[in-house]
Amino acid sequence: MERITIFDTTLRDGEQSPGCSMNLGEKLRMAQTLDALGVDVLEAGFPIASRGDFEAVERIAREVRRPSVAALARCKHEDVEQAWQAVRDAERPRIHTFLATSDIHLEYKLKITRAEALEQARTAVALAKSHCDDVEFSPEDATRSDFDFLCQVVETAIEEGATTINIPDTVGYSLPSDYGVLIGNLKNKVRNIDRAVLSVHCHNDLGLAVANTFAGIEQGARQVECTINGIGERAGNAPLEEIVMAMRVRSDSLPYETGIQANLLYTASQQLARTISFGPQPNKPVVGANAFAHAAGIHQHGVLSNPLCYEIMTPESVGAPGTKIVLGKHSGRHALQARYAELGYRLESAEIKEIYARFTELADRKKNIFDQDLLALLPNARRTPLASAAAAPTAHPA
Ligand code: KIV
Ligand code: ZN
Repeated sequence: MERITIFDTTLRDGEQSPGCSMNLGEKLRMAQTLDALGVDVLEAGFPIASRGDFEAVERIAREVRRPSVAALARCKHEDVEQAWQAVRDAERPRIHTFLATSDIHLEYKLKITRAEALEQARTAVALAKSHCDDVEFSPEDATRSDFDFLCQVVETAIEEGATTINIPDTVGYSLPSDYGVLIGNLKNKVRNIDRAVLSVHCHNDLGLAVANTFAGIEQGARQVECTINGIGERAGNAPLEEIVMAMRVRSDSLPYETGIQANLLYTASQQLARTISFGPQPNKPVVGANAFAHAAGIHQHGVLSNPLCYEIMTPESVGAPGTKIVLGKHSGRHALQARYAELGYRLESAEIKEIYARFTELADRKKNIFDQDLLALLPNARRTPLASAAAAPTAHPA
């Protein structure tokens, strides 16, 4: 098993997206959770962006001692200095400096030539290195950059002491095949690449962030940049929980390990959802409300017989509350009978047959069927549960 470094950027790339800003206390509590989760590098923020962000990064650097704490900086003197001031008290500080290398960014955004960009990258990495051993450099929009120029900038950054080279697919434009080839070519063409760890940073504009991340790992990248719930610019970054669980569930094809405590993934996801203004969509892999929910009769029957029929990981493995059998118009008799049993009513086949007919009528009219609805469907004479009733009603619709 090869070890993959998990670089979490929930508090930087994640935080800079709409509806996700966090105050100092919220960032600190989230950082403590990320520490417990086991991330290797925690990108705490972009200190030059605001006084508040500087203070949050500084506080995290002082209080969260196990992971490396990274601060982001453009390739500008004042950014690098601010980043260093913010992380200098960390147990393991890292300065992460970046500069766009694609012609479109150089011409329209930065209005500088390739030669000027090369010099800015050289100077910023050298300055960062004068403060800190652990320096990461990112050529922003790497996937739309001229390959030879990209190699030149990467080689220069390593010459000046960068120890991690991160290759961002800034606008989520790459296909897995493109991205894998790019990482492989960088490994082959950059003379001094063996002096740095290659890192992947994939945005999800085409829904390919996780696939691209794995394409990069297959070609030798050993650091993954990701966020909880996949928050990040526009459509977000590669979700940490999906990458970690893909490695666990498919270790037969993905022989990699991380330091992540997978059973804390759900808690981290929920904490983030409470902190920012939105949670993961219900059908979000691994941590969504429906990730372990079954509404169709055939699926419910299968899961009740053996969860492996329709679940490739257990809810417990990610700390989620448990398999949910959701009753609705697609449910079958097995699920209905099982839910009544949980509520303390052991119904015979003949009884369930009759109740099931009324249940499907109701389910055709109602989106959610609650336990109270099930109780109302019982004939009057059957409304007293057995003394040994096992389960309390679930919080979700029955
Ligand atoms: O997406 C990106 O290019 C970034 C860099 C700052 C690493 O977030
Ligand atoms: Zn990004």
